[in-house]
Amino acid sequence: METSHLPQTPEGIAEAAKLICDGALVAFPTETVYGLGGNATDDQAVAKIYEAKNRPDFNPLIVHGADKAMLEAFVEFTPMAEKLAEAFWPGALTLVLKRKADAPLSLLVSAGLDTVAVRVPDHPLAQSLIAEAGCPIAAPSANLSGTISPTRAEHVLESLNGRIAAVLDGGACSLGIESTVVDCSTNTPTLLRPGGLESEKIESVSGPLAHPEKDPEAPRSPGMLARHYAPNRPVGLNRTSFEKHEVILGFGPSAPDSALNLSESGNLVEAAANLFAMLHQLDQGDAKAIAVMPIPETGLGIAINDRLKRAATPE
Ligand code: TXA
Ligand code: MG
Repeated sequence: METSHLPQTPEGIAEAAKLICDGALVAFPTETVYGLGGNATDDQAVAKIYEAKNRPDFNPLIVHGADKAMLEAFVEFTPMAEKLAEAFWPGALTLVLKRKADAPLSLLVSAGLDTVAVRVPDHPLAQSLIAEAGCPIAAPSANLSGTISPTRAEHVLESLNGRIAAVLDGGACSLGIESTVVDCSTNTPTLLRPGGLESEKIESVSGPLAHPEKDPEAPRSPGMLARHYAPNRPVGLNRTSFEKHEVILGFGPSAPDSALNLSESGNLVEAAANLFAMLHQLDQGDAKAIAVMPIPETGLGIAINDRLKRAATPE
């Protein structure tokens, strides 16, 4: 795939928005760093984000809205979150909030957590793109996993050329450092990641933030806590034969008809997109255990297997 380099014109924005609506990936500028964007309501698009970044695991992603109203359909704003959004949005502040039960968001975007990280970026191109696409955009930094975050379109292309549909070029990012992440899903607002918005500024509005790294008494963040979804039933991995009392999470054309199949054709992007919904579904019936067929340890299969290993060994 050739990555198109789109200019910051109405035509460039329209083309980028159309690609997002079609489920493709577009890197776009924010005031912090370039984001690697995909439709946050589309499991396949979100799975492609992890694939393009070459991530070995499913770290939850930030969901970007054109404004706060757009995000209210997906998460519960607490009074503290209202105050912080009012003071700092649009801007370099990401809020972790409880996911609404019926939120039409990809399950993969929050990697099985019951919270979602949301932000309204302070960049005219980002806002126009999200508004024109008409959907929230999931976006990690637009670089390969383990490399430096991109602050220019050229950096994005160095890392991701050929792996994404397009980059919308807005020149250099003004802050050049990722957003500050604050968890407002519990009673004590907690600093999860220092970033472009100084914590002193946030505390002047919120009062003292808990710092889990400095203070062992502080509530741990959802990412640190094992609050990731784990099935209640025992999970067996790499299984090719099955017992009567088991339900089967299949992969590929050789799966039995009774299995829920992550991907009949053996496509890892499709498998990642189905993973969380199928695990939930298999955990609901009255089967005693879940047997998972082997999944190749390549590309997205590495992140899928990482997640399944955690499901198989509850922390
Ligand atoms: O400035 C930024 O934040 C950029 C631009 C593109 O917006 N994005 C970015 O995304 O840095 P990423 O994926 O590289 O970092 C997201 C951070 C990670 O530290 C992740 O663990 C945390 O947010 N995060 C996301 N969802 C979370 C959740 N539900 N609970 C706790 N932490 C979460
Ligand atoms: Mg990053």
